[in-house]
Parts: sequence; C-alpha cells; structure tokens
Amino acid sequence: VIITVPFVHSLTPSQEDQWLEALNNIDPLCRVLPLRDLSALQTQNAKIAIVANPDPNDLKALRALEWVQSLWAGVEKLMPALAGTQIEVARLIDARLAQTMSDAVLTWVLHLYRDGPLYLQQQRDAIWQQWPVARIEDTTVGVLGLGELGSTAAKRLAANGFRVHGWSRSHKQLEAITTHTGEAGLSSVLSMSDILVVLLPATPHTHALLNAQRLSEVKQGASLINFARASVLDHDALTRGLASRAIKHAVLDVFDVEPLPSHHPLWANPNVTILPHISAPTDKSSASACVIKTIMDYQKHGSNPLFVGREQGY
Ligand SMILES: NC(=O)c1ccc[n+]([C@@H]2O[C@H](COP(=O)([O-])OP(=O)(O)OC[C@H]3O[C@@H](n4cnc5c(N)ncnc54)[C@H](OP(=O)(O)O)[C@@H]3O)[C@@H](O)[C@H]2O)c1
Repeated sequence: VIITVPFVHSLTPSQEDQWLEALNNIDPLCRVLPLRDLSALQTQNAKIAIVANPDPNDLKALRALEWVQSLWAGVEKLMPALAGTQIEVARLIDARLAQTMSDAVLTWVLHLYRDGPLYLQQQRDAIWQQWPVARIEDTTVGVLGLGELGSTAAKRLAANGFRVHGWSRSHKQLEAITTHTGEAGLSSVLSMSDILVVLLPATPHTHALLNAQRLSEVKQGASLINFARASVLDHDALTRGLASRAIKHAVLDVFDVEPLPSHHPLWANPNVTILPHISAPTDKSSASACVIKTIMDYQKHGSNPLFVGREQGY
C-alpha cells in the first residue's frame, strides 16, 4: 500500500518544489503531497505529517494527526506551536548534518586556535608580526551540548589533537572526551576552555544560559563559537566581554533576527566573525532519506521515532 503524507509548511513555492522532489525520490510507497492536494478523506485520515515552519491552523485540519516529522534539527518554534495538543514531534536526525556541522566546528576552531582573526587584522594594518603558536594538545576546547551534533564535533576535535571537554544534561561517556554535567560542570568547562563551542538547543532551560554571570566565568582571553541558537547567548553581555578583552573573539552563525539587520553593531565589531547561518545547512536528499525512513519504519513496524521531550523542549 502507498501511504500519503501531507507536507505542511510556510516555505516559498520554489523551496516547496525542491523538498517535494527530494522527499518523493526516496520510496515509491511513500507519497508526500502539499496539504492543499490531499483529498478530504486523506486529510481526515493522515496520522503523520512532514512539517517545516507549519502554520498551527493548517495542522488543525488534520484531525487524526498523531505525530509530525520536522525537516529541521531545531524545534524551538514548533514546540510552542503544538502546545496544548497531543501531537508528538520527531526532529531531524541526520548523520550528514552532524558531519557538516563538525566540518564547520573544526574549521573555525582551527582558525581561532591559529589566531586567524588577529592575522586578518594585522594584514589590514600591513603589520608583519609573528606570535607564538600554542601546542594543539595544550589547547582545550569546551563543547556545550553533546547531542547528535555536539558529540560528533567533539570527537572530530579530539581526533585532530585538541583536548576536549564536553557538557550535557545527562552524563555521557565518549572516548577521548572528558564529560561534565550540572552547574558545577558548566563552570569547570567555561573556566578551562581556550575555545568554547555552543551546540545546545534553544529551550526554556538554555535561554540566556550564557549570561553576564556565566560569561564572567570564561577563561581570560578565550574565544567562543555559537553554531546553535542565539537565545542561548546574551549578546549584550558578550559584547561587553569582548570590549574588555575578557573574551578574545566570537564566531556567530545564529541571531535573534535573521538576516542580522545591516545597522546591527555586531557587524562592525572587529572581535566578531559573522556567518549567515551557514554552519550546517540541511542536505535535502540525505534529510529526505532520514525522514522517509522514519515514516516507513513506523508504517511497516509500528516503531515510533524518538520524540522530543515536552518538558525538556528538545
Ligand atoms: N547553525 C546551524 O546551521 C544549525 C544546524 C542544525 C542544528 N542547529 C542547532 O543545533 C542544536 C543542537 O542539535 P543536536 O541535533 O545536536 O541536538 P540534540 O541531539 O538534541 O542535543 C542537544 C544536546 O544539548 C544538551 N542539552 C540540552 N538541554 C540542556 C541543558 N538544559 N543543560 C545541559 N545540556 C543540555 C543535551 O543533553 P543530553 O545529551 O543529556 O540530552 C544534548 O547533549 C539544534 O537544537 C539546533 O538549534 C544549528
């Protein structure tokens, strides 16, 4: 039997076309249609939907809906949209996404480790000045968040010679990585890391986690990379930390308002590298394969995917 899955989103028509093509290229037994193309019966019977920034009102039309499969790894916008419903959420888990993110983490950690921002500034000022190079094995990288993305990135950093410490909610055992949990664990990671990498999800618990108080615990002159979500980091406190040189440099890929408005002071801050939310773009074909496999596993074997915890928010 062929299963028909509605695609509920607020994407542009060309993005919709690209996703439909990728999603319908995986399994002939799984047909993905935009919500508007479903028959009344199909709308009434659909238990699963694939979603990308869905309008909650569109989801209300699907009376039998049990769970939704997100096309994104971050579900912080989806969870409030589904508050008060029984609908479960499966987020995107894609090994390719984790690999792509670990490429970005390794690239920018190496850039910071080898004083990339300093030499770029020196070039602008035509200054020929060599600085000592720290040993890689004496350079500590702290990875906040050891989930799909954080654990892959942490392993990659360790494999490349860095000393890696990680922090997560529950205890983790990862080869070659020293792991920490809890408030005291966070303090330790902040105070010992030369470079901090944020890969925590945006949840009510991580909101402004890295506030002025926490940033004051960061090792003097350390650098920071945020590839997760802007809400985790207080940008005003960061700006003050950068101005006082307590924090050397920040590489930011995520912002409260995206695109970052052209008049925003962060653009002109010499101690900040701005990236346009590019650290781990979704690969439509690999993401589609993961999403359709999850749906077909449920269809064939009744196996539920790992749903987002409502209380945890991720
Ligand atoms: N910039 C980009 O291009 C891009 C692309 C994709 C994703 N992202 C972002 O990256 C985030 C992480 O993705 P992921 O797939 O790695 O998520 P994940 O698998 O859910 O992992 C989240 C990690 O954060 C930890 N964590 C969550 N809440 C915590 C808390 N309150 N205190 C301490 N640790 C906490 C979790 O701890 P446990 O292990 O104990 O559960 C887990 O280790 C996403 O939520 C998304 O926002 C960004």
